[in-house]
Amino acid sequence: MKRVLKIGAEAEVYITKFLGYDVVVKRRLSKPYRIPEVDKMIREQRTKRELRIMHTVKLMGVNAPAVIFSDVENGIIVMELVRGISLKEALDEKKPKEQVLKLLKRIGELVGILHKNDIIHGDLTPANIIIDDDTKDVFFIDFGLSEVSRELRLKAIDIHVFKESLKTLTDEYETYMLAFIEGYSKTFPRSSEVLKIEHDIEKMGRYVKG
Ligand SMILES: Nc1ncnc2c1ncn2[C@@H]1O[C@H](COP(=O)(O)OP(=O)(O)O)[C@@H](O)[C@H]1O
Ligand SMILES: [Mg+2]
Repeated sequence: MKRVLKIGAEAEVYITKFLGYDVVVKRRLSKPYRIPEVDKMIREQRTKRELRIMHTVKLMGVNAPAVIFSDVENGIIVMELVRGISLKEALDEKKPKEQVLKLLKRIGELVGILHKNDIIHGDLTPANIIIDDDTKDVFFIDFGLSEVSRELRLKAIDIHVFKESLKTLTDEYETYMLAFIEGYSKTFPRSSEVLKIEHDIEKMGRYVKG
């Protein structure tokens, strides 16, 4: 029995039972248009990356689902199911503004912790942030494109990706970004340098788009 959560371009993600528990399985799919050897390498590399970083961020006090089982050769990760809604869903459901502001500040603090520790998420969108129903803890998922780097520009890209996807989800994004930045600045000493680079990236984007 499996309940599909997402069949994306890269992976299928579903809920199933494992040793009596509900778990999430993420299985990276082969792409028929890739050379088979390259395809296998990419799948393995992203799976390994995701596994490693899911573990590393926990050591910093940032929540990610616990890994229960993995099969790198086949691109499979079995992980803890986080019962809750994503930030995207919270925005779609138009949760009370006060609640969302608090949440955004907390998310900012956590992204600040990641960046202070040189973890780049690589796909920091509201769909990849889940709020646990019971504890209200924030979980980050989808670390397949993550990397460890000191580069401020990569940190700025994380922020930029987050900001741009927030823009598409809510008219309140400016207020919400302020709350995010308040949290981010609290935990990450080099936040203002990163935000300045992000500002330049945004300007450049506007210029390119015309
Ligand atoms: N551990 C988890 N607990 C709960 N939901 C999850 C979990 N992992 C993934 N999901 C859900 O499945 C979706 C797709 O998973 P994700 O890892 O983001 O894959 P993709 O790379 O295809 O975006 C997420 O947006 C989320 O809704
Ligand atoms: Mg995702």
